[in-house]
Amino acid sequence: EQAERTERIEAALGELGDDVVILGHNYQRREIVEHADFVGDSYQLSKQAAEADAEYVIFGGVTFMAESADIITDDDQTVILPSMEASCPMAGMAEALQVDAAWAEITAAAPDADIIPITYMNSYADLKAFCASQGGLVCTSSNAHRAFEWAFERGDKVLFLPDKHLGENTAYELGLEDEIAQWDPWDPEGKDADEVAESDIILWDGYCQVHERFRVEHVERVREANPGANVVVHPECRREVVEAADVVGSTATICETIEAAEPGETWAIGTEIHLTEHLQRWHPEVNVLPLCGDACMDCNAMRQIDPNYLTWVLEELVAGRERNVIEVAPEEKELAGLALERMLEV
Ligand code: 13P
Ligand code: SF4
Repeated sequence: EQAERTERIEAALGELGDDVVILGHNYQRREIVEHADFVGDSYQLSKQAAEADAEYVIFGGVTFMAESADIITDDDQTVILPSMEASCPMAGMAEALQVDAAWAEITAAAPDADIIPITYMNSYADLKAFCASQGGLVCTSSNAHRAFEWAFERGDKVLFLPDKHLGENTAYELGLEDEIAQWDPWDPEGKDADEVAESDIILWDGYCQVHERFRVEHVERVREANPGANVVVHPECRREVVEAADVVGSTATICETIEAAEPGETWAIGTEIHLTEHLQRWHPEVNVLPLCGDACMDCNAMRQIDPNYLTWVLEELVAGRERNVIEVAPEEKELAGLALERMLEV
């Protein structure tokens, strides 16, 4: 069945030629990654989308990534997401309407401050547009510290959303760990106006349920079972897990870390399980292990991009039908594009 599907995908790609480019996030399944023209982290994929000149960009990733690709590509290019169910739960934790209401409370708590909102790439286009409208920008896990520096050159405080862990880890990287206020929009007790007034960094209470599951015990256990093991984790992990690890970074940094490892070294990986499996295949000379041994770190949103759907959208294109087109509303496109451009510039 798999061989037949591969044949069908290759046949469709053969027909479509240069009209199609496939971008695949590092967390995609093996069969998607194997058909991708480019595989990378969120930042690299947004750069690839900006540079792509194919008529169709097929995005192996989640909705917010495909939206960003639609914003960044030219108007005559079409972005297709093989499954419309591939929505990152973290992106849904900061809805633009809700942020708009919170913004009124936060700015009222610090009326004399210039607050710059920064949204993680893992957010929808309307929130990216909101951030640009308030003088802010987008960042990914590979440039969050530079986005914070950019913001502090222009304002006094940063509101970072949706991922509190990436926000906290970035604050530590910049030596601003004593400057953090938490903002929990779901809990009246979690919104402390005095704390906002006193702190430079306000963190929205969102998180990734895949990365939050990693615990310090996982790091300890892997080191006990594998003396000499190194640990690399994604900055969406809790602060204490990042502190216990040897290296922290985006999925591209995780890949580079394993590429640079000496043969025979052991590396435990604290991120989504598909990337760990790719790295095991790509670098058999390195002993690559999942940080949580029971392979529980599966992102359901990324998993929605089933190779059968990839086959379907490609064969439909061959038949002249565009399926699962991702189109950002024109009124959001310009401002969200500005937020992304600011990121690409920092
Ligand atoms: P990267 O930008 O590191 O690829 O991460 C994206 C993501 O969704 C992590 O969960
Ligand atoms: Fe979203 Fe987490 Fe999946 Fe990344 S791993 S796409 S942040 S749910």
